[in-house]
Amino acid sequence: MTTQYVCQECGKIYSKWIGKCEGCNSWNTLVEEIVNVKLSSSARKKNINDMQVFDLSNIDSTDVARYKIGIGEVDRVLGGGLVMNSVILFYGDPGIGKSTLLLQICDFITQNSDFKCLYISAEESLSQIKIRADRLGIKSDNIKMVMHNELSDIRHVAAKFNNFIMIVDSIQTIYDKEINSTPGTVTQVKACTFELVQIAKKYNCIIIIVGHVTKDGQIAGPKLLEHMVDVVISFEGEHTKQYRIIRAIKNRYGSNNEIGIFTMTNIGLHEVSNPSNIFVSTNVNGISGSCISVCNEGSRSIMVEVQSLVAHSFMVNPKRAALGWDTNRLSMIVAILSSRLNIKLADQEIYLNIAGGLKINETGIDLAVVAAIISSKYQIIIPHNAIFIGEVGLLGELRSVSHIESRINEAVKFGSKKIFLPNDKKLLEFEIISKYKNNHNVEIITLDNINKLFYTMRREFEKIKAS
Ligand code: TYD
Ligand code: MG
Repeated sequence: MTTQYVCQECGKIYSKWIGKCEGCNSWNTLVEEIVNVKLSSSARKKNINDMQVFDLSNIDSTDVARYKIGIGEVDRVLGGGLVMNSVILFYGDPGIGKSTLLLQICDFITQNSDFKCLYISAEESLSQIKIRADRLGIKSDNIKMVMHNELSDIRHVAAKFNNFIMIVDSIQTIYDKEINSTPGTVTQVKACTFELVQIAKKYNCIIIIVGHVTKDGQIAGPKLLEHMVDVVISFEGEHTKQYRIIRAIKNRYGSNNEIGIFTMTNIGLHEVSNPSNIFVSTNVNGISGSCISVCNEGSRSIMVEVQSLVAHSFMVNPKRAALGWDTNRLSMIVAILSSRLNIKLADQEIYLNIAGGLKINETGIDLAVVAAIISSKYQIIIPHNAIFIGEVGLLGELRSVSHIESRINEAVKFGSKKIFLPNDKKLLEFEIISKYKNNHNVEIITLDNINKLFYTMRREFEKIKAS
């Protein structure tokens, strides 16, 4: 019997135990696992005539069949609904609401279609799930529950059903008895996921797998897991806040980075149909350091409030911290402000926060970050009907960003009166810009660089401070 040491964070394999993984630099993540004996060469042989080769031009291109769940936010993140034979990985922090949302998905889909739901609970007892179902008011007869955590049992149960969706809650608690590793180890998680992908194909069903995350928010188990499934959805949010966000990290049947927003109530998760309202606080208008922008998440534009605090520091290395945004990008913006505008920030602590707990991975809010920092540093109050959209380059120049029309539309819908944009030729070709340029209700202000922004902010808003 041979053993190997596998890093539980990144999946790197070693022949000897070492304290720190060279692949991901994590400490104490190596676990001894037994190497499985390969099949004999005769067992591996396959009839060559079974191998079919298809002409790409002759493959039927009719659209894949989609089944709408009936929960708009989930359907959009999935790219329009569930696709037959697909395997979806659904991961997030413990207690964030994964099992709750999945039970609600089971309820909606069994009511809206003739699908059955087979819920494999390998974590909670059936009575625990029943208590949750009662709380959510779920009474569907087509939700079937099983408490199994061995893969061959799951395969046998699946064989008894047809036209069904299987929920596996969770991948870390099921195991393949032919593999000599404890549940949750990289080898088990990989083998079980691979087998579930085969089950989805063989029994013509849709499988939703629940996954846990490590303390840094990564899917517990190797990245490889993401390659094996068709769709990866993350569940984000803070336990202390009621908002929950689901995000498509990978989607073979739709676009990436589409998000769905929910609020957690005492009777389950409720969809948020107008997210712009929740990420902008209504009670801080009139305080410096707050600035509104529009970010783009998948096919949707959402109003966000960027908050900044610039405070004198007594430390040798003043702190720069960003919540909901990239800290490196914040450091870059601070460096641009110091060198291009000569703003003295070396002895200042700078904090940045995206209000409401949203995490933004794009550069379209750069201009708002700059405006929020200037606002906090010089106590210039920016009213919430002024919107800042644009990317900032290292030269201090402003660049246009994607989906500008949808962002402007959202800003106007929100009641914005002044929209600050980069003075980019490409951007000015958009019809929407000329439409609002001639409109008295909305003023479009185009800027070349951050010097112009600074000057314009003082001209436009400094009087607000004085009054
Ligand atoms: P759960 O779905 O069990 O989380 P996960 O499967 O991701 O571990 O959700 C657990 C939390 O959600 C728990 O703290 C209670 C809360 N909750 C509500 O606030 N309202 C509800 O209707 C339900 C069912 C749970
Ligand atoms: Mg759960």
